[in-house]
Amino acid sequence: MNIGIKYCGGCNPTYDRPSVVSSLKKHIAKDNSIETAKQGLIYDVVIILCGCSSACVSINNLEAKYEKICITSGNDKSKLFNIIDKINVLSLGRVIYMNLKELYESKVITAEQAATKIKSGNRVVTGHACGEPTELINAMVANCENYENIEIVHMVAMSESEYSKPGMEKHFRHNSLFVGGSTREAVNCGRADFTPCYFSEVPSLFNECLPVDVALIQVSTPDEHGYCSFGVSIDYTKPAAKKAKLVIAEVNNKMPRTMGDSFIHVSEIDYIVEASHNIIELNPPKIGDIEKAIGEHCASLVEDGSTLQLGIGAIPDAVLLFLKEKKDLGIHSEMISDGVVELVESGVITNNAKTLHTGKIVVTFLMGTQRLYDFVNNNPMVEMYSVDYVNDPTVIMKNSKMISINSCVQVDLMGQVASESVGLKQISGVGGQIDFVRGANMCKDGKSIMAMASTAAKGTVSKIVPLLAEGSAVTTGRNDVNYVVTEYGIAKLKGKNLKDRARALINIAHPNFKPSLIKEWEKRFRLKF
Ligand code: COA
Repeated sequence: MNIGIKYCGGCNPTYDRPSVVSSLKKHIAKDNSIETAKQGLIYDVVIILCGCSSACVSINNLEAKYEKICITSGNDKSKLFNIIDKINVLSLGRVIYMNLKELYESKVITAEQAATKIKSGNRVVTGHACGEPTELINAMVANCENYENIEIVHMVAMSESEYSKPGMEKHFRHNSLFVGGSTREAVNCGRADFTPCYFSEVPSLFNECLPVDVALIQVSTPDEHGYCSFGVSIDYTKPAAKKAKLVIAEVNNKMPRTMGDSFIHVSEIDYIVEASHNIIELNPPKIGDIEKAIGEHCASLVEDGSTLQLGIGAIPDAVLLFLKEKKDLGIHSEMISDGVVELVESGVITNNAKTLHTGKIVVTFLMGTQRLYDFVNNNPMVEMYSVDYVNDPTVIMKNSKMISINSCVQVDLMGQVASESVGLKQISGVGGQIDFVRGANMCKDGKSIMAMASTAAKGTVSKIVPLLAEGSAVTTGRNDVNYVVTEYGIAKLKGKNLKDRARALINIAHPNFKPSLIKEWEKRFRLKF
């Protein structure tokens, strides 16, 4: 804790400044640095030692991160000791219960004020997915004329990502770790950057490669011990807040209080902006006949007692439809959505057969409707942890019968999977795909499944192709791919030679594209299909 003291008192010669200073120094916890306050520096706490109650009281050319406190000649000793207590709480993060409310209130500012705490050149990490702190982001964008060159690091963006729109280039540069609907155009036309990385490694990037200046987070209101929950997004949001130089929290009374390692103490937050708005929702996708057929094939690979990771979208939701007859399923997944709630309520998901976190759903973020958010609120059955734990393949593999189900945009005849780009066009990112493919493959009785419709672009292109489109990033290498599923069946690639895996893939391709794929196979292997 860095304390700056401004010595006033000239207009009251009887004011005993030395004794106040020595009293302060004696009582303020050790490890605090105390110096004469200099203009231009930001102190954690600024103390104005003032001999009167006039102009000096409102000195405004000194900046304090937590508190600016004025001690006037009129202050009695107990007031002085209250102030010291407060500084000690701030500096030690020590919880003095009677001061908790005061501590919280001392940090409350408006969203507009919060935006002024962000400075040009800062790297700003924003809360993830449905946990996006929309009021803080809107205030930052509204204040754009006062910034130059702010880097915004984000993954799945659910709002409009105004900072990445044309005209914002001078103020913001978006660094996307996963491209979504609202950032795809900005990345593909060069207005924003894309940084390839595994989801599980994002927290470690904040140590050296991408140190965090400011974390903009959204959390629940504090409990009676002063802990706010990160609610729907723990993922990289909590690690970013732990590592940031400045933490600004949107404290939303509608954020569910999720359990696990999902909390931040009020003393760890620099500024609070109070909010009361619904959490961003993701409505259940439309599940058509193709998704149902894929879901049924995937479900046939799921044994009773399996632990599942399900990605986002219609296919994972379709899989859930066909699990209604299974027993004792468990969840260890990067994210879950509404579909899981139904299976818990119908007694299919019990988590009782899990070999890690038995009895618990383990997850790092949530994307669903209010139904899901109500289900997780204060629910000890759902444990949320940071993504470097949940997505760590060596953690995932400790679940028995671990099954990962993910999707992709193309698979070539060697079994190479492209999930994030078609040619040079970036569609998404690797997210947690590799983390879970590897975790499931390393699990002795695990299975990794790549599930996709056999065609894209309204049936005009095959997703099973002789070669990936030129420029496509290989997301999951052929050595890692185990099962591939389309609406036409299941291809098990693991352990198969190139000829047989290509044959297995052609057998689950759309009939319109089979003849050309067979032709390619016969040319490549100089055999009759
Ligand atoms: N050729 C051309 N375009 C293709 C294509 C292909 N082979 N495959 C997909 N596309 C296009 C679609 O037409 C669609 O375009 P549009 O948005 O303009 O309509 C876009 O790519 C997205 O495809 P879609 O099939 O709608 O995506 P989805 O919602 O089913 O998601 C992935 C599929 C692969 C993009 C998604 O699963 C993903 O990002 N995976 C990687 C990350 C991951 O697995 N994370 C772990 C689980 S959360």
